[in-house]
Amino acid sequence: MADLKVSLSGVAFKNPVIVASASATMDYRGVAAGIRGGASGAIVKSLFGEKGSQGRSYPRPRFYLMGYKDHPNYPVKINRNFTLSSFEECSHFGYKDYIADVNRAKAEVGDEGRVIASITGSTLEEWKELAQVINETDADWVDLNVSCPFAADLGVKMGAGAVDMSADITRVVKETLNKPFSVKVSPQTQDQSEVALACEKAGAYAINMAARISGFDLDIDRACPVGPGSPGGWGGPWLIGYGIKNVATAARKLSIPIIAGLGVWDWKDIIKYTMVGATLIQSGTGIMLQGYDVTRQWTEKIDQWLDAKGYSSLDEIRGIALPNILTGAQIERAPEKVFAQVDDQKCIKCGVCRRSCFYDAITMTKVGAVVDTNKCDGCGMCAQVCPADAVKVTRPLVKIS
Ligand SMILES: Cc1cc2nc3c(=O)[nH]c(=O)nc-3n(C[C@H](O)[C@H](O)[C@H](O)COP(=O)(O)O)c2cc1C
Ligand code: SF4
Ligand code: SF4
Repeated sequence: MADLKVSLSGVAFKNPVIVASASATMDYRGVAAGIRGGASGAIVKSLFGEKGSQGRSYPRPRFYLMGYKDHPNYPVKINRNFTLSSFEECSHFGYKDYIADVNRAKAEVGDEGRVIASITGSTLEEWKELAQVINETDADWVDLNVSCPFAADLGVKMGAGAVDMSADITRVVKETLNKPFSVKVSPQTQDQSEVALACEKAGAYAINMAARISGFDLDIDRACPVGPGSPGGWGGPWLIGYGIKNVATAARKLSIPIIAGLGVWDWKDIIKYTMVGATLIQSGTGIMLQGYDVTRQWTEKIDQWLDAKGYSSLDEIRGIALPNILTGAQIERAPEKVFAQVDDQKCIKCGVCRRSCFYDAITMTKVGAVVDTNKCDGCGMCAQVCPADAVKVTRPLVKIS
């Protein structure tokens, strides 16, 4: 059995998976259910300061899933590249009830898992006030949510709207808070990794890179946004490539640990985030749609995978992908003799590859698709679209350092 324990700046977690701050952690019941479901901790839904208290009540309905039911075998199989658009800012609780709820959560779970409080202010004074509030709780850790994608729409300097204040917020909270904390940095900025670095320098114990972006779909019959009418949180597993890139970029610059998590849908995503340098990985949408117990399945699968690969702990794979991530200037260009080859036995003669070959290299014949290697550019599109997995695009081996 591999060692799944991780340490976040000296705070031990029994495994790398925590429940993200979202509907699943709206109160102590959710936090307890998440930890009993197998997670090593849970970030409680954020407490907004009084100036953003409008965010404590939500529009109804507020969840919109796009592309979620597209798999022909839904709900047995789910297409993982869906979008969740949601409009739910912070916890329902005011200060007093939040303290009571966090303490109740900690009393429920005890040493079984870590309870992480989450706060969002709209001025430096309010951040200080919220830090004082959290000092009255038994929370093990605190997440500073400077990343809610749409909280600033309330007309306050909050979340992603306060990204320029991230380092100042870190400094102010550090002076007041008597607990270790992470800063949840928004990707809605020029360079998230630079904001993360500024927060590290200002005294953060860890950086949370799992925040979403904002957006909305448009209903063309009504010519208005789908949902309550304004941009909400826009995320889902389709965004994981963005998350992995951002974590990899930050991991090269930071000395403090990273909490990752944007777009986690299965156990492999947790390994991917660990390989680009993350220590803890959170899941919001994944747990909301697959249930609290999914985290136990994930940790079991991670354990099996580590064993099968001969790794004894997550420490052995943390960051191992980083040297293999090249810049655009480093990648090999125009390798020769790369072209598509069709397996006649597999080809079902559907013609899908031909319509997506912009080099006019594919002809449909009685035996199936035939590739003219004089025209083929080796771009790889035919292999990507083929429903029968009949095409291979041969390429020289890429050197992995
Ligand atoms: C319905 C919903 C509510 C959320 N509420 C909060 C919140 O109160 N505080 C916070 O920091 N993040 C909140 N988030 C963001 C999540 O914590 C997480 O960063 C984001 O959903 C990306 O992870 P995922 O792809 O696993 O969902 C919320 C997300 C969703 C979907
Ligand atoms: S690899 Fe590109 S150019 Fe070659 S056959 Fe396939 S789609 Fe056409
Ligand atoms: S997409 Fe695949 S199965 Fe369809 S014609 Fe091309 S090679 Fe054959």
